[in-house]
Amino acid sequence: MDEIQSIQWFPGHMTKTKRKIQENLKLVDAVAEVIDARIPISSRNPDLDKIIQGKPRIIIMNKCDMADSNITAQWISYFKNQGIASIAVDCKTGRGLNNFIPTIRSVLSDKIEKWESKGMKNRTIKVMIVGVPNVGKSSFINRIAKNNKAKVEDRPGVTRGNQWFTVGKGFEILDTPGVLWPKFDDKIVGEKLAFTGAVKDQIIDTERLCSRLLLFLRENYPNELTKRYKLTNDEISDISGYDMLLLIGKKRGMLMSGGNIDTQRASIIILDEFRGAVIGKMTLERVKS
Ligand code: G4P
Repeated sequence: MDEIQSIQWFPGHMTKTKRKIQENLKLVDAVAEVIDARIPISSRNPDLDKIIQGKPRIIIMNKCDMADSNITAQWISYFKNQGIASIAVDCKTGRGLNNFIPTIRSVLSDKIEKWESKGMKNRTIKVMIVGVPNVGKSSFINRIAKNNKAKVEDRPGVTRGNQWFTVGKGFEILDTPGVLWPKFDDKIVGEKLAFTGAVKDQIIDTERLCSRLLLFLRENYPNELTKRYKLTNDEISDISGYDMLLLIGKKRGMLMSGGNIDTQRASIIILDEFRGAVIGKMTLERVKS
């Protein structure tokens, strides 16, 4: 998806964000990377490992209310095998957030022991929250922070000071100092981000995007697809994504004057329903076995 490149990431902003994160690494004990549980690959920053230079880290799989819970569990064990602790959370309801502090404590247990042996019993633990836009960083901070609200601000180039939030006694978090970028030069990543709505639809051909989504759904979640749109497997087994879009538009009676099917309207509805998990709880990226 070429369009994604033109959104908001420019080499200058990327360098600036990288520099700001690296400057702030000195101020924190760990990094918490928020990702979208529906796209655990595409919602990650490709350079984060290099940027955080071995700082202890956890992964927060957010939006797990909309993801396929079996696959979320598989990702959690995948990350564990890589030596990275991860937790599944849902910032809409707050589910899973109780695990945040204990997981950070366990990741830092050696460090904490060291501090305690040096007499620093109640040293404040500081964690930097990072993540690409739209994964739910502000929602996460707003849910767990006890003081002021996180500013919902995604524009690169907007300068702002470091924002610290108190989470509990002896525990503070720092909002991402900059805007992290996804792997936008990869078309497949761009498409996944667009499916989930992380990329604004105004710059995307929604009918083409929806046709691609329908192909993905037929392949991976055929039962949910046929149930939601009252389709049969036979009807859709051998047709293009665009023909599935036409069929759904027809079944839903979305006609324009002249009798043509309003595929634009149908595509917006299907994308909205997918993004709201109305078709079902789904994950777009699986752990490779
Ligand atoms: P960001 O700071 O990383 O850019 O993300 P932000 O918190 O702004 O969240 C992006 C969108 O994702 C918001 O929806 C937010 O409500 C939604 N969201 C965040 N966490 C969760 C979650 O765990 N589950 C679900 N279902 N949604 C989540 P929006 O449509 O942009 O705004 P609004 O609906 O809140 O008005």
